[in-house]
Amino acid sequence: MHEALVFRRVRAVDPSQTGRELDGEVDVVIEGRTITRVGPGAGDELTRTKSDRVRVVEVAGALLLPGLIDLHAHLREPGQEGKEDLRSGLAAAAAGGFTDVCVMPNTRPVNDTRFVTEMLVHKARSIGGTRLHPIGAITVGQKGETLTEMNDLKEAGAVAVSDDGHCVTRSDVMRRALEYASTFDLPLIQHAEDHALTKDAQMHEGAVSTRLGLRGWPRVAEDIIVARDVILAEYTRARYHLAHVSTLGAVRIIREAKSRGIAVTAEVTPHHLLLTDASLIGYDTACKVNPPLREDEDVAALREALADGTIDCIATDHAPHGILDKDCELSEALPGMIGLELCVPLMLGLVEKGVFSLSRLVHSLTQGPARIVGLTAARIREGSEANLTLVDPARSWVVAPERLRTKSRNTPFLGQTVKGMVMMTLVAGAIAFEATETA
Ligand code: DOR
Ligand code: ZN
Repeated sequence: MHEALVFRRVRAVDPSQTGRELDGEVDVVIEGRTITRVGPGAGDELTRTKSDRVRVVEVAGALLLPGLIDLHAHLREPGQEGKEDLRSGLAAAAAGGFTDVCVMPNTRPVNDTRFVTEMLVHKARSIGGTRLHPIGAITVGQKGETLTEMNDLKEAGAVAVSDDGHCVTRSDVMRRALEYASTFDLPLIQHAEDHALTKDAQMHEGAVSTRLGLRGWPRVAEDIIVARDVILAEYTRARYHLAHVSTLGAVRIIREAKSRGIAVTAEVTPHHLLLTDASLIGYDTACKVNPPLREDEDVAALREALADGTIDCIATDHAPHGILDKDCELSEALPGMIGLELCVPLMLGLVEKGVFSLSRLVHSLTQGPARIVGLTAARIREGSEANLTLVDPARSWVVAPERLRTKSRNTPFLGQTVKGMVMMTLVAGAIAFEATETA
């Protein structure tokens, strides 16, 4: 085991320090859990010692980023360990460059109690590597009726509450949930879907769904809930976070709410930034997600909103499913796609296209999510804990099934070549993931 790790001549990008944004070629030295030196030539001396106890990592053109945080993942434990479990899910997170992952409560049983939250915390700690942060349910069994004991959830380690997968539809329940969550300073994460408008829906409602003869999920089913929720968030002064925003209209409502100082935030997934309903033309079940892939104008609005800060962060909504859940008719297929290991390359692709800056991307995977759930975002500066992600942005790889750490394979990107490879993930100075290619 090394005592010191030196990243040689990496491009360190850390937008967290307002006015003193770091973006330049430096050496970064890690000793134990801590970043001890940052600067050009900071690793000269240690590199020269050639001691067994010093490990020097030099990857030409590599990016060194503060450890990434995923605000929204489904790791399926307890209950559906065939799709994913904590061990495989945390390994996939580390391989994706994430040092921290927040996990949704739609497990079996639902994480609506102190008991399940504690189990997740203890088990994840014993596994080590990427840190897990549970999100508790808003309502018992995610049934949208009775509020959970949010104080218990918080004490056991929950960082937020959400009924993700289901919407809190009833206005009275939503109002009380916002009030109750805010007494414990827990952000409430809403899955915005007016279920009455999305019954039996297979995809986005539009020209493509009409052509395919499939029942559609109209944009307004999202917009109506977001509009109502913003009104309630203003009234209750609670913190409201919108999960996986997918429509132009919801973006507009969030933008207006923010301009009036209401405490609302939003996340967007890589797939909603990249794909449209046209991907469903071949009835590809891998493209069935909830909320559904929308249209070009929505994608454009989401991209613009991420670039201008209306959308606070990118979250994967990693939703692993088994072969039988997807190798079936579209109407039978379960919604969701895996995302942890594809987020960095897919999003670097948008940076390369000029859709948003690298600094904006890093912010939306570090400070952005950290602020929402009250985690401390990693920093690249002397004295900080070494939570870091090393990426080779020039390295291409094929999304081949055998490469993935997740147990599931449900992604439309399978078989495609992507550019940008996570080379190493450090959690508190320890290597949680290392690509075999560095060896
Ligand atoms: O596509 C989705 N899959 N959206 C959700 O809200 C839930 C998730 C899941 O748990 O599979
Ligand atoms: Zn989800």
